[in-house]
Amino acid sequence: MVGGQAEMTVIPLVDVRAAHAQVAAEIQAGFEDVISSTAFIKGEVAAAFEQDYAAFTGVAHCIGVANGTDALELALRAAEVPAGAEVIMPANTFVATAEAVVRAGARPAFADVDPDYLLLDPGALETALSQQTGAVIPVHLFGQMAPMDAIVGTAAGRGTVIIEDAAQAHGATQSGRPAGSFGLLAGVSFYPGKNLGAYGDAGAVLTESAEHARRVRLLGDHGSERRYEHLTIGFNSRLDAFQAVVLRAKLRRLAAGNLARRQAASRYAEMMADLPEVILPQTAPGNEHVWHLYVIRVPRRDHVLRCLHDEEIYAGIHYPVPVHLQPAFRHLGYGPGDFPVAEAAAGQLLSLPLYPQITPEQQARVADAVRRALG
Ligand SMILES: Cc1ncc(COP(=O)(O)O)c(C=O)c1O
Repeated sequence: MVGGQAEMTVIPLVDVRAAHAQVAAEIQAGFEDVISSTAFIKGEVAAAFEQDYAAFTGVAHCIGVANGTDALELALRAAEVPAGAEVIMPANTFVATAEAVVRAGARPAFADVDPDYLLLDPGALETALSQQTGAVIPVHLFGQMAPMDAIVGTAAGRGTVIIEDAAQAHGATQSGRPAGSFGLLAGVSFYPGKNLGAYGDAGAVLTESAEHARRVRLLGDHGSERRYEHLTIGFNSRLDAFQAVVLRAKLRRLAAGNLARRQAASRYAEMMADLPEVILPQTAPGNEHVWHLYVIRVPRRDHVLRCLHDEEIYAGIHYPVPVHLQPAFRHLGYGPGDFPVAEAAAGQLLSLPLYPQITPEQQARVADAVRRALG
């Protein structure tokens, strides 16, 4: 009991349980099939999911892998980004984007984001490009695509490879074109909390290029296309059949889920329109946003977050420390002040609960809690 009100219910950041209720029976039956087939890794169900996801996104090839970080690493390797080359990404991304670059033998380099959408700023990219640049990774952060025409125009003019980080952009498009169709390849994550989430780790690489699809498949399966013939030294990064069952079942609801997220995002915008201190997230022109996260910017962010948690509203922060200031990347030589937009945003970002099943009543509770915290 709080303030004499009825008992509060928890509002999670993401409600994976509610999503499961819709697909429980289908997943149970699919798991039984996998167990009786004993084809636990890849197999027919993984191949079927790859086809389904390629069809859903509109990108020609989808290769299932073990997780989104591997997807980016395998994409960089398939693109043959030279060892030691710089790979430019926005400073405001999940650490995995930079990790994948290091693991692929290259060197992360950062560029600032734009102040309106917090996506890779093409002007900053232009400045960061150099003789050392081997690739650019635009990140489709929070569910909307980075400005690909400008990025492609800037990078491709110099022959620089583009690998999209589409980990947060399942079903997002720009000017009608899907995430994953602008770059040479794209990495996708199916981490459980994503718009399309597995029940464990899973990921995929998307590409329009049959040759690059073949290379990713080869690299992810011990360098082998035929049993016991190993053409190159590869990795073990394959989609497991149980995850493919989950992903197939949930993919059928993804378009409806993305629509429900869009409606919920509009409701939040209406509910907080009267709060001048809150910067609401905006959709960039031409983008079809899939609202993986609903990220507002507020003053006194840590205080607001504490107030929400006190009311059992589990808002989050994506991300509190930009990657260039993480201890793991200190050796790259960046410091505070290098990327002022990303750094200022890191102190203000607040991700509010958002998932397809969130109700207007729950959202009103969230918006009221933000209002009281700022009041
Ligand atoms: C932007 C971004 N890139 C890469 C990843 C890495 O994906 P995974 O956690 O599946 O390895 C994630 C998600 O976790 C992400 O949000």
